[in-house]
Amino acid sequence: MRIDVVTIFPEVLGVLDVSLLGRARATGLLDVRVHDLRDATHDRHRTVDDTPYGGGAGMVMRPEPWGEVLDGLLADGDDPLVVFPTPAGTPFTQPTAVRWAGERRLIFCCGRYEGIDQRVVEHTAARARVEEASLGDFVLNGGEVAVLAMVEAVGRLVPGVIGNPASLTEESHEGGLLEYPSYTKPALWRGLEVPAVLRSGDHGAVARWRREQSEARTRRVRPDLLP
Ligand code: ADE
Repeated sequence: MRIDVVTIFPEVLGVLDVSLLGRARATGLLDVRVHDLRDATHDRHRTVDDTPYGGGAGMVMRPEPWGEVLDGLLADGDDPLVVFPTPAGTPFTQPTAVRWAGERRLIFCCGRYEGIDQRVVEHTAARARVEEASLGDFVLNGGEVAVLAMVEAVGRLVPGVIGNPASLTEESHEGGLLEYPSYTKPALWRGLEVPAVLRSGDHGAVARWRREQSEARTRRVRPDLLP
């Protein structure tokens, strides 16, 4: 899968070089390319923002550099899905990650300040598939951290990126419930014991216990996830 990220802070995306996704990049499973929006400016100060029409606080990203960068990226083809991370977007959830993991190519456009001139979204939507997506009901300073989270959530679902694909199916949100608690050795630690059922060798009992734990945890902390 090819992933393009456009940002004025390319160094923030540098953490994608490490860990699991770093290995996937190194082996070619993920082709992540980070682009500096300022390379598409043509003034001495490499200006990317300006004051908002209609007044108000903050700065808005000007459309011209975005238009130029997206012209270049869209010319590469492969029917990419273009994502604009914004707190005003549709919530990004595990089903979103699963859907995006099926794409051949994703382009992420990181806005800063009060956002990107809306005409960029409109113009892009006329020539590509576009989604505005929010990481959650909170406000970040820009799309970069949201994109890091989205790329990690999507990238680990790309076949081959995770060594043991079974570990993908039992985790929180994949089945609509939160994950059950996990334990490892030693069986007794600081007076706290691993639940006996997990050491019983009874696979049916273990499965039932985990299911109950998942349901109880979901009822307690995320009742909104239950049908
Ligand atoms: N940019 C700023 N806040 C954001 C959020 N919550 N989700 C996605 N992009 C953002």
